[in-house]
Amino acid sequence: MAIKVPVEESSKEKKKILVVDDYLPTRRLIVDALSQYPQYEVNEAENGEEALQLFNKNNYGLVISDIMMPGMSGMDLLNRIREKNLSTAVIMITGSPTIDLTVSAIKKGAVDFLTKPFDIDDLLFKVDIHLREKAFLPVSGTERLLEQVDLRDKTDELSKQGYIFDSIEDSPMDNDAIFEKIVSLALKLVDGEECSILLFDEQDNEFHPQIVKSELEEVVEKKMPGPALKKVFDEVVKKKEAVVVNSNEHQDMSPSLICAPLMIRNSILGILSIRKKKNREVFSKKDLHHILSLTKRASLNLENKILYESLYSNIMDTLKSLISSVQARDHYTEEHSRRVTDLSLKIARQMNCSLKDMQSLEIAGILHDVGKIAVPDNILLKPGKLTDEEYLIIKNHPTIGENILRPVILLEKERRIIQCHHERWDGKGYPLGIAGEEIPFLARILAVADSFDAMTNNRPYRSAMSIEKALAELVRNKNTQFDENVVSACTKII
Ligand SMILES: [Fe+2]
Repeated sequence: MAIKVPVEESSKEKKKILVVDDYLPTRRLIVDALSQYPQYEVNEAENGEEALQLFNKNNYGLVISDIMMPGMSGMDLLNRIREKNLSTAVIMITGSPTIDLTVSAIKKGAVDFLTKPFDIDDLLFKVDIHLREKAFLPVSGTERLLEQVDLRDKTDELSKQGYIFDSIEDSPMDNDAIFEKIVSLALKLVDGEECSILLFDEQDNEFHPQIVKSELEEVVEKKMPGPALKKVFDEVVKKKEAVVVNSNEHQDMSPSLICAPLMIRNSILGILSIRKKKNREVFSKKDLHHILSLTKRASLNLENKILYESLYSNIMDTLKSLISSVQARDHYTEEHSRRVTDLSLKIARQMNCSLKDMQSLEIAGILHDVGKIAVPDNILLKPGKLTDEEYLIIKNHPTIGENILRPVILLEKERRIIQCHHERWDGKGYPLGIAGEEIPFLARILAVADSFDAMTNNRPYRSAMSIEKALAELVRNKNTQFDENVVSACTKII
């Protein structure tokens, strides 16, 4: 998706940007991308010292700097820039982001991060955002408390939000892992002593702890909240807003506690509760702001994830029922699909395919003959040899399968595998007649598994071949019908 950077014709003065990176290709890439826009004036430096000299002579709105550079590091440069000028936004580029590095750079005043390899649209988007000095509009009652937060803090908040978003986005698709990441971030961002996430059960009005972590990142024993804490949580649920308790009246909450809701579609999924370290000052408005940004981002991410999962399982249910309707007519297809999937996965594992590929192959394997739903019984179940005309109808099934899956954007890759499972290495397959590496790799795996299974099982019109004979057939047809690498992986495992 291309991000459009608006050309601001009203502002006559160009916005000055300094790009600092010792690695010429990265620097060139950034400079060239930014130079396309007439509202930007871009300078470049190949090290920290050169950057500082330029910085002293110019009024930059934004500096984009690599962290790892010989001589003055990006972090040193950030420090020096902050000593001289507080209003210049600084975006750091890093190859290996860690939470510690990121939190430290944010505390030093970096507004955002780019992780190598980065997407140029993402860079342009971030540059655009940080060069605009838009005021933030408070959106909720809690945020009205925060009107005093100055612009610097708002920029600061935005960057943490960006980082939080990125780091949660990168996390594995597993609720526990997301919760763990959220509490770790919360502890680091606001100097907390203990942070927990509790899920709210509307039925029994209870809060069930999912994770509790201490400042030392240790997982602490989960316990149900006591009556005083429960009262605070109830208030959060009722108001659908964060509640801050600053008092010494209850030991569990001293010196300061923030309880913020995790919301999904306007209902409470759970609560993030964080306590400040003992003997420290109470949470500031800025701390509250950070926690709110974090819970909002986390809520959005969880919401997307839950929507995705339910959509996905709905789709899979629908497709499985389609498969069952093929199976109801033709028992062979059911067993065949399962065996082809198993063998495809074994071949894929042998060929060191990624987990993602294995998942795609599993779906495509189960669904590969779904297009047979459109083949009439008298052809699908015909015991004798098919006529040319009937064979043409059978040959339509990859295309029909592809069409059935077309509305499902989530399964684009799987759709293509299904479409291509009868293509041949020499280009004489169907329906597209594509050859060699034009055929998706996973479709080439599926083709071998599909043929092997068809040969080694009884069909109404012929009896099963022995495993040895079927393997010899695969080998005989490598480089004509099959990809030879897939054939040799298959012969190794059988
Ligand atoms: Fe097929």
